[in-house]
Amino acid sequence: MITKRTYNIAILPGDGIGPEVVAEAIKVLQAIGTMHNIEFNLNFADLGAVAIDKTGEALPAKTLQTCIEADAVLLGAIGDPRYDDPTLQVRPEQGLLRLRKALGLFCNVRPVRAYDSLLELSPLKRKYVAGADLVIYRELTGGIYFGEQGRKENNSYAYDVCGYHIHEIERIVRLAFEAARLRKNRVTLVDKANVLESSRLWREVFNEIKKEFEDVETNYVLVDNAAMQMILNPCAFDVIVTSNIFGDIISDEASVICGSLGMLPSASLGVEHSLFEPVHGSYPAAAGKNIANPLATILSVALMLRHLGIEIGALQIEEAVAHCLEESFLTEDLCIDKSEACSCSEVGDAVATALRVPVV
Ligand code: IPM
Ligand code: MN
Repeated sequence: MITKRTYNIAILPGDGIGPEVVAEAIKVLQAIGTMHNIEFNLNFADLGAVAIDKTGEALPAKTLQTCIEADAVLLGAIGDPRYDDPTLQVRPEQGLLRLRKALGLFCNVRPVRAYDSLLELSPLKRKYVAGADLVIYRELTGGIYFGEQGRKENNSYAYDVCGYHIHEIERIVRLAFEAARLRKNRVTLVDKANVLESSRLWREVFNEIKKEFEDVETNYVLVDNAAMQMILNPCAFDVIVTSNIFGDIISDEASVICGSLGMLPSASLGVEHSLFEPVHGSYPAAAGKNIANPLATILSVALMLRHLGIEIGALQIEEAVAHCLEESFLTEDLCIDKSEACSCSEVGDAVATALRVPVV
């Protein structure tokens, strides 16, 4: 049910191809707004290298305020080769990590599916990939990303602590179980419980939550084995729940299943705030060339609409994207012969046009 007719959306185009893919996503968002008489007020703000260049900070206070006041945030990408040196004091990535933490976005949802029309593009064999449809629930505000880090012993020893509180595990595991009930009713915990104490706590908490969801099938897969199973048998997975760093790694790996990282959307959810962004990065080599794939960002808008309760809009976008893939509106990352590729804006236009087809 649609309960509100006006939404304030913070738009953070960011760096590299971010502004281009966000422009296409906005086209699609506004087309949905027009169709359903919903007003989306867009409030633009800077994050990442673009923000560092203007203000010296990767997450300016004004940007954070815009995000706090918004009903949802749409982000393009952050990262710039000028700031690639990981020893720099100020880096674009800090902006994203601080924003996730400040908004309390503990649950990162990354759905991965094999579109029939793209099966030939996956480097994996069709018979293994066909029908794959999984979602990764990645913990996003804890673990090794946010643990104590530093140097000791005259700079000759470095450490990054991976710690989790029970409540941090509980809240994301619960969301993963709830998601499974709406899907194939299966949750896999990916961890390294044969080695890490933090993983053993994840298992304990997982087993407790599982008691509330007796109808849901569960298993554990160690992360090294999961990395292999993801390629060997992606159809075995439904919902995967895992820690921050393991989720980061296996979600890039999972993108291979659908043929391009340019297809993967994500939602980062907290109690009060939510942010939607493509899984891919800023792809500086393609910036300004109108060749980037906008579909991950467009599909992130679908996740945003679903989260805002506008399910019809989400379904329309997902159907329009599938239709455009079938009709071969493909950017060059999805083309075997790049001379046949559509531009970023052509694909955005094609999706916005395909939305006009009523959903039955
Ligand atoms: C991601 C990215 C980020 C992460 C980087 C840019 C900090 O790789 O969203 O997956 O590691 O979380
Ligand atoms: Mn990543």
